[in-house]
Amino acid sequence: CRTRHYKFNVVLRKATRLCSSKPIVTVNGNFPGPTIHAREDDTVLIKVVNHVKYNVSIHWHGIRQLRTGWADGPAYITQCPIQPGQSYIYNFTITGQRGTLLWHAHILWLRATVHGALVILPKLGVPYPFPTPYKEAVVILGEWWKSDVEAVINEAMKSGLAPNVSDAHTINGHPGPFSSCSLQGGFTLPVDPGKTYMLRIINAALNEELFLKIAGHHLTVVEVDATYTKPFSTDTVLIAPGQTTNVLLTAGLGAGKYLVTASSFMDSPIAVDNMTATATVQYSGTLSSTPTTITNPPPQNATSVATKFTDSLRSLNSKKYPARVPLATDHSLLFTVGLGINPCATCVNGGKVVANINNVTFVMPTTALLQAHYFKMKGVYTDDFPGNPPIAFNYTGTQPTNFQTMNGTRLYRLAYNSTVQLVLQDTGMIAPERHPVHLHGFNFFVIGRGLGNYNPKKDPKKFNLVDPVERNTVGVPSGGWTAIRFRADNPGVWFMHCHLEVHTTWGLKMAFVVDNGKGPNESVLPPPSDLPKC
Ligand code: C2O
Repeated sequence: CRTRHYKFNVVLRKATRLCSSKPIVTVNGNFPGPTIHAREDDTVLIKVVNHVKYNVSIHWHGIRQLRTGWADGPAYITQCPIQPGQSYIYNFTITGQRGTLLWHAHILWLRATVHGALVILPKLGVPYPFPTPYKEAVVILGEWWKSDVEAVINEAMKSGLAPNVSDAHTINGHPGPFSSCSLQGGFTLPVDPGKTYMLRIINAALNEELFLKIAGHHLTVVEVDATYTKPFSTDTVLIAPGQTTNVLLTAGLGAGKYLVTASSFMDSPIAVDNMTATATVQYSGTLSSTPTTITNPPPQNATSVATKFTDSLRSLNSKKYPARVPLATDHSLLFTVGLGINPCATCVNGGKVVANINNVTFVMPTTALLQAHYFKMKGVYTDDFPGNPPIAFNYTGTQPTNFQTMNGTRLYRLAYNSTVQLVLQDTGMIAPERHPVHLHGFNFFVIGRGLGNYNPKKDPKKFNLVDPVERNTVGVPSGGWTAIRFRADNPGVWFMHCHLEVHTTWGLKMAFVVDNGKGPNESVLPPPSDLPKC
């Protein structure tokens, strides 16, 4: 294994999309940002230098960060942000992981333009568990606002209403040939007839769960969130913000230019989706400038397409890559996730849209939680996050009267190496959206999901404990639930939140603290000397 060195200069640059220009925050002037290439077991050192007026931090989404929480990145959770003019070296080793992940800014809404791919190849000489593709390509999905993204969320927080939706989706940074002002180009994947390509698809959008389709082609899913899956064929990929999906695309024997679409998915549409991004797959020797084969994206509310995709996901669970699903559980937790209008008029954000987990709207601390934990600082957080909803919840499909939320910086304490079952129950109060919940520091197994209220007597009987998909971000269905299991084998403070950025901003977030403080392997390593100060 090797040590890989990268330098990320966070700089402003002017960018033009949809016929209008604005300055955007980028890494090294690129949007999307640079791809990090590494192999399983490599150590990666990334020096991030902040040349902009915002505080910055970067998260390596899906990297386990075993005992190296200092390199995880979420601002005020594992580190204080890198202030203007300052730098910080993220230093981590990729242990037992290979596949596609993403990195992104983890402060404010900078993630909109500060993101890129993390491509982790298997150890040298170790093949993929499927035929080696002829070539590989990174396909990053995103969103574009014509206005300044920080202004969009700042205005929303002032008004207490939802922020403006983006003006377009993007594929590798471009809305593509079918959007207005299409002459600004788009992404083209050149292919040779008969060859197989692996696409490393990443959803880096702030707030949109997306369908990806390629006209005239089936895609074979082989990996999600850097874990191998049982291969299955589909014409539509569903991908939520924070998720990654590797697919094989086999080019046919013909020629032509085929349309790729990235379109929005919402269980019931609240707005007409005119933001669909497009790209093209172009066979060698094809000269036509417009796509010859077009596909229509699924309707925005194509829940059945989404469910079919999700239900097809299974871990590979081979001898070499077994699914190590915890069979017993030391902690059995039920967390409600939802949005509502805060009825407490005298509270912070009273009368405004807020989000919560188990009736707790998470309040960001002013110093990093991991530091507070490691240095035993008092008064930064409490470890009394409720393991069950304190206000009895019953999903009926209409807004219940008991939506209440309490502000707090409350953590849930897990014993090192304990096993956890967590049922995430959507309260479906306002948004017809599913919440893509992301857990830092761990992969988890998605052992079950269903609609309506989770039934602790009946539903566990249907859990898949054999080959459930393993991932780091999972969609909790609107008005339904998802059950996950993981082993708390990583000491530290680990953020968990909805990966729709607006919901995170509203407070749909919490953190786990894992540490016995006993053996040397059961604690976080000491912080690096250049760790930023608050
Ligand atoms: Cu990809 Cu906490 O985020």
